[in-house]
Amino acid sequence: MINQNTEKEIKILAIESSCDETAAAVVVNGRDVRSNVISSQIDLHTLYGGVVPEIASRKHIEKINQVIEEALSKAEMTLDDIDAIAVTYGPGLVGALLVGVAEAKAISFARNIPLIGVHHIEGHISANYIENKDLEPPFLCLVVSGGHTHLVRVADYGKYEILGRTRDDAAGEAFDKVARAIGLGYPGGPKIEKISHEGNPDAIAFPRAKVGDGVYDFSFSGLKSAVLNYLNGCKMKDIEINQADVAASFQKSVTDVLVEHAMHAIDEYQMDKFAIAGGVASNATLRKAMEEACAKKGVKFYHPSPILCTDNAAMIGAAGYYDYLAGKRAGLDLNAVPNLKLGE
Ligand code: KG4
Ligand code: ZN
Repeated sequence: MINQNTEKEIKILAIESSCDETAAAVVVNGRDVRSNVISSQIDLHTLYGGVVPEIASRKHIEKINQVIEEALSKAEMTLDDIDAIAVTYGPGLVGALLVGVAEAKAISFARNIPLIGVHHIEGHISANYIENKDLEPPFLCLVVSGGHTHLVRVADYGKYEILGRTRDDAAGEAFDKVARAIGLGYPGGPKIEKISHEGNPDAIAFPRAKVGDGVYDFSFSGLKSAVLNYLNGCKMKDIEINQADVAASFQKSVTDVLVEHAMHAIDEYQMDKFAIAGGVASNATLRKAMEEACAKKGVKFYHPSPILCTDNAAMIGAAGYYDYLAGKRAGLDLNAVPNLKLGE
């Protein structure tokens, strides 16, 4: 474990631009968030039913300086106070990532401030440190976002073992695709969650996907196809679909699989702490199911607030702090790596 009793406060300016949120934050000693500014492009991409990479990059360029200035001003700091700049350098959309990386390098060079490249998933995991001051590795973490579904053993700060990952669609991607298919639009996750309150989760028996050899791997494309087949079947028989029942049954199917895999891993690795992270982790049904399953085992359950589940820069500042303590520094040759693997 890293000794956190550093005398000096370490103030990190964090930048995140891997997808459709332009975000900057100031985080002190990894867990004290002084500002967390997020400029979301959701309204813009809703017009197209999903994120358009070119538009995302252009919007990041327009917003990034303003977002950084706001983050510094809300934290009542200037660049003179900042000890390091942490920036997401992958995975994500290359053009979007490049905006944050170029900005971070420019500030680092101009002001001679150390630069740290942060893995986006490491950021999502670290979001749990912010509101749970007692949380320390080792713990198990399920990262469920629009681009990733990873079951990770966090052995120590910065030390990750991926136990399982999705073979096809990410959990959030499945939410988005199913939402589109039943006419709810983008972004799908929050819309499915909302309408599910009015539906019956046991109305339709969608499959709980099993993946042959990798015990902890996930597969959501079969579930998505099952939903599409169900919708087509209804259309052919001229049966009106009940959006709320489809949404609630789909949500239950995803939740069941995620809970089952997580509990299995908790048993096998004998973990006593379990955390969830990523956009889908803001789903209340998933949280409740995980919380109940953990309680039965006497396992402590952690989750970030919804605003820290979806993309933000505070989580990058939290992860960046532990990288900073471990002496990790990036050079001005830091580049965006769209398919960066965890642990590289
Ligand atoms: O972590 P995130 O903001 O971006 C990525 O790194 O991908 O996650 C976005 C994903 C989207 O697929 C969105 O539909 C999903 O998280 N999401 C949700 C909810 N809020 C966001 N999924 C289910 N329930 C929610 N409440
Ligand atoms: Zn994310």
